[in-house]
Amino acid sequence: MNIVAIVGSLRKESYNMQIAKTMQERYTDLMNIEIAKISSLPYFNEEEELDPPQDVKNFKNSIANADGVIIITPEYNWSVPGVLKNAIDWASRVEKVFIGKPVMTLGASPGAVGTVRAQLHLRDILSSPGIQAKVLPPGSNEILINFAPQKFESGRLVDESTLQFIDEKINNFLEFVKSSH
Ligand code: FNR
Repeated sequence: MNIVAIVGSLRKESYNMQIAKTMQERYTDLMNIEIAKISSLPYFNEEEELDPPQDVKNFKNSIANADGVIIITPEYNWSVPGVLKNAIDWASRVEKVFIGKPVMTLGASPGAVGTVRAQLHLRDILSSPGIQAKVLPPGSNEILINFAPQKFESGRLVDESTLQFIDEKINNFLEFVKSSH
């Protein structure tokens, strides 16, 4: 199974990027996770949407060809970071590559409520007409990783109970992806 991960932080030591790398290594038997390079995407400009820069085309193609997408993002000022919104905006125009695409979201924050507001906003964005992603129902599938500094070591997520919790949700997502095709 081919999954694209989109990380909403460009910071080298980003906890959210560390989660993406941890998942990439931990789930090799289950899926191939490609981490999208959103740092090279220019600011969205509607004048360029019909023939966007090559990096945008590559980004959109990788989503179009993926079986599913995992969005791993911090919360900035109670919402999603601009870099993530910018990437999503490119994907929402002309070839609308998110339509019907299975998506799972998660995020980490040093604070107590672990990105909950960002993820609620993200769910709204993912439901918009240009996106219409098929988002894993939140019911028991929310992954809000709080107090992040205590849970990472040497560039990876190491907190065992958090890892086991993510294992369960990844299994739910894989079933969800399979049932979507
Ligand atoms: C933050 N941070 C933050 N955290 C949070 O839980 N809720 C918030 O609204 C915000 N707002 C916010 C705004 C901006 C501009 C910055 C730079 C940071 C803190 C944030 O969670 C923390 O820096 C994380 O470590 C960022 O994620 P990465 O880069 O570690 O993945």
